Amino acid sequence: MRSVSELRLRVSAAGELTPTVRRFVLRDPAGSRLPAYEPGAHVVVSTPAGHRRAYSLVEPGGAQPREYVLCVRRDTDGRGGSVSMHDDVAVGTTLVVSAPANRFPLAPSPRYLFIAGGIGITPIRAMVRRLRAAGRAGVRLLYLTRSAAETPFLEEFAGPEDTVHHSGGRGRLDLWPYLGVPDDDVRIYCCGPPALVRAVRTLTAHWRLSRIHLEEFAAGHRQLSSPFTAVWAPDGRRVGVPAHLSLLAALRGEGVRVGSSCEAGVCGTCRVAVLDGEVEHADSVLTESERVASMVACVSRARSTELVVGPYQDEELA
Ligand SMILES: Cc1cc2nc3c(=O)[nH]c(=O)nc-3n(C[C@H](O)[C@H](O)[C@H](O)COP(=O)(O)OP(=O)(O)OC[C@H]3O[C@@H](n4cnc5c(N)ncnc54)[C@H](O)[C@@H]3O)c2cc1C
Ligand code: FES
Repeated sequence: MRSVSELRLRVSAAGELTPTVRRFVLRDPAGSRLPAYEPGAHVVVSTPAGHRRAYSLVEPGGAQPREYVLCVRRDTDGRGGSVSMHDDVAVGTTLVVSAPANRFPLAPSPRYLFIAGGIGITPIRAMVRRLRAAGRAGVRLLYLTRSAAETPFLEEFAGPEDTVHHSGGRGRLDLWPYLGVPDDDVRIYCCGPPALVRAVRTLTAHWRLSRIHLEEFAAGHRQLSSPFTAVWAPDGRRVGVPAHLSLLAALRGEGVRVGSSCEAGVCGTCRVAVLDGEVEHADSVLTESERVASMVACVSRARSTELVVGPYQDEELA
């Protein structure tokens, strides 16, 4: 499915930042400027092996960027997307990439506390660089990694407002001293593995919700909510969707075939048509007009107790 405009970009540089993280620079083959983006944005890349995976843009961006820069950590426990980016992509490779989307935008604030865990530094770096380039003070960074060798961009974050903590041999950093006292003049941005994002969510429960901005990278960790019933329109099959399962998993459990790729609400592969009921959209791929009569089944759920869904047919292809 192509629901957002797609670009064919050439890898103009590629190299290792750490033993497990590779950096890729993508440019238009004809040298044209690329669609605009702001810090916090990501693109969805179709890997050579056919996965669709989201990658944050690590540079601050702007109106007409010349290139998109991605950093990909090899995840040997995953389904192969990052491994394909590492093993199959080199200088000269052409990649199909979505236009940038941003569900982690940088909002104005007197001061900021950024918390990055491992490869979660990618969108945070774009934000920190944008703010510091503008001469802003009060841009505090906590960067949590296992070791110096596993820390992309380590040399950039040695300033007075930076704390880089390596857990190897020292244990985890106690975040409470940084989060214990809520401050309406501070916005907190956290990106990293689910355990870190969960910890920050818990430790900031007494903060105003609007001050807390969280982004998780791992697939399959969406916060789920109430149970509901899905009716599969082609045959009227009624499928219970418990709180701990996604609509995608529940439909598959009943033998309904729905494709998927990212399972993180960023690629649109699992899009289904919505014929009746109210949807709580949690994706970052569909436009408002596409949301009127469709949803992605991996992360979005029903707001009503019942939702009638069916196969999505791309009008462009139908
Ligand atoms: C908005 C966004 C931005 C991102 N930016 C970056 C970035 O800048 N750099 C980067 O390296 N990665 C980034 N990611 C993660 C990236 O999209 C891929 O998930 C990552 O490269 C791993 O892909 P994979 O196919 O190798 O593993 P995946 O199959 O995606 O698995 C990733 C991890 O999730 C676990 N997992 C997979 N499926 C499930 C499930 N159903 N239930 C529980 N756990 C599961 C796996 O064990 C694995 O450890 C971003 C993700 C999002 C959503
Ligand atoms: S599988 Fe990518 S949006 Fe659902």
